[in-house]
Amino acid sequence: MAKYVGAIDQGTTSTRFVVVDEDGSFVAVSQMEHNQILPQPGWVEHDANQIWANTQAVITDALDKAGLGAGDLSGIGITNQRETTVLWNRRSGQPVANAIVWQDTRTADLAKRLSDERGVDWFRDRTGLPPATYFAGPKIRWLLDRDPSIVKLAESGDLAFGTIDSWIAWKLTGRHVTDVTNASRTMLMNIETLEWDEELCNAVGVPMSVLPEIVPSIGEIGPCSGVLEGTTLATILGDQHAALVGQAAFDSGGTKATYGTGAFLVTNTGPHIVHSTAGLLTTVAYQIAGEPAMYALEGSVAVAGSAVQWLRDNLQMISSAPEVQTVAETVPDNGDVYFVPAFSGLFAPHWRADARGVFTGLTRFSNRGHFARAVLEATAYQTRDLVAAMEADTGDRLSELRVDGGMVANSLLMQFMADMLQMDVVLPVNVETTVLGAAFGAGLASGVWSSTDAIASHWSEDVRYRPLITRGESDALYTGWEKALDRSLGWVTD
Ligand SMILES: Nc1ncnc2c1ncn2[C@@H]1O[C@H](COP(=O)(O)OP(=O)(O)OP(=O)(O)O)[C@@H](O)[C@H]1O
Ligand SMILES: [Mg+2]
Repeated sequence: MAKYVGAIDQGTTSTRFVVVDEDGSFVAVSQMEHNQILPQPGWVEHDANQIWANTQAVITDALDKAGLGAGDLSGIGITNQRETTVLWNRRSGQPVANAIVWQDTRTADLAKRLSDERGVDWFRDRTGLPPATYFAGPKIRWLLDRDPSIVKLAESGDLAFGTIDSWIAWKLTGRHVTDVTNASRTMLMNIETLEWDEELCNAVGVPMSVLPEIVPSIGEIGPCSGVLEGTTLATILGDQHAALVGQAAFDSGGTKATYGTGAFLVTNTGPHIVHSTAGLLTTVAYQIAGEPAMYALEGSVAVAGSAVQWLRDNLQMISSAPEVQTVAETVPDNGDVYFVPAFSGLFAPHWRADARGVFTGLTRFSNRGHFARAVLEATAYQTRDLVAAMEADTGDRLSELRVDGGMVANSLLMQFMADMLQMDVVLPVNVETTVLGAAFGAGLASGVWSSTDAIASHWSEDVRYRPLITRGESDALYTGWEKALDRSLGWVTD
């Protein structure tokens, strides 16, 4: 009998459910977008109830399309936008506020205070992370500081915190859990012990009673009820960690870059913790139950594809994301126009909450083609910064880059990426590696695949972009980026 697994991909912009067969092929997909709630500049929220409603809807729809029932799935996995913070009432099951999304910068003052009080290295040593608006712990603290009724709920033991994985797992199984990869993005988990750390929780100001139980990423978590009654939750992986698994980067040195809402370069460092001195994050790559955790270095860039959405929705310069390429192709080069998409400040490797977006180098000659090109090129320049940091931290030179995510459909960007990095850029046949990674995890845990090698045999190369300009030409373009980057800094002042 054929074997199937299912995977929920709860992303920043949409929620997907995919049914995958034992060849690693997609049998059915269903997807729904949810609202981006933007109450003021720098704030981004989601409605956790809407996300749960959409999750159930896409599960039901994909199973219908596949002609399968939940009981036909050997197991399911969850992969999710990370850091986005939900607090809910354990009794009523209701969120106590909108979820604060990872891109939200409202905790800038708090992050600065934590850095000043303890020092950045105090946090880096324990968590692998520098204090930043990005992470979940300060978002919990912000909600507690804002609303005494939430503090009261915490004191009575009825308040639960979870990142989105935890929220969905609780809805599906009734267990209040999160996996090590998601927990490694809170600033509350000790990166060595893989447990919540009392000292960290005190420093950030989060009561430990609200925290979920930390479980391995790949391994049986519990039976599902409701729309998935009949199957088992067998994997939870943060989206970038799932993409690493989906790219079959199981060996130390295995690297992938994902281009969706943001851009994320992740290198597997095996069972070793590598502390970054170049502005990268140390994070858990994944953990298979009963085995030691694998670690990774990560370069996170907040804005990549979302800048294309911004061209579409805010500037109305294009009517669809792919159209950005058509517009960019109306000009032969960037015309010396550069764009730094520091909408949420700058993440890796700069970590500058005071930066904001800029277009630079404008002249009377500049036109929309240059704007479109500058927006696309920004993703490649940012990747070059990340690759440089990665090479500095690991001491190894990358030979080629495996890429995935929605933006890799853009051939102009992928060619420019190869040019800027001066290395081959490789697309796999299935570029939906995030959801695929969660499915692989669920299949590994439920016996559909016997080993990571069996999973790796399903990875195959599709397109390869090779550099078409010289290193000198690439460096000359990059110099403009460095100048533009400098212009973006220090915009936000007290
Ligand atoms: N042809 C294209 N050229 C440039 N950007 C594109 C193109 N097609 C899609 N995108 C961008 O890719 C992003 C969608 O990619 P993907 O679906 O991988 O996102 P995602 O990060 O997984 O989303 P989520 O954050 O919801 O998980 C959007 O931001 C969109 O603007
Ligand atoms: Mg995604």
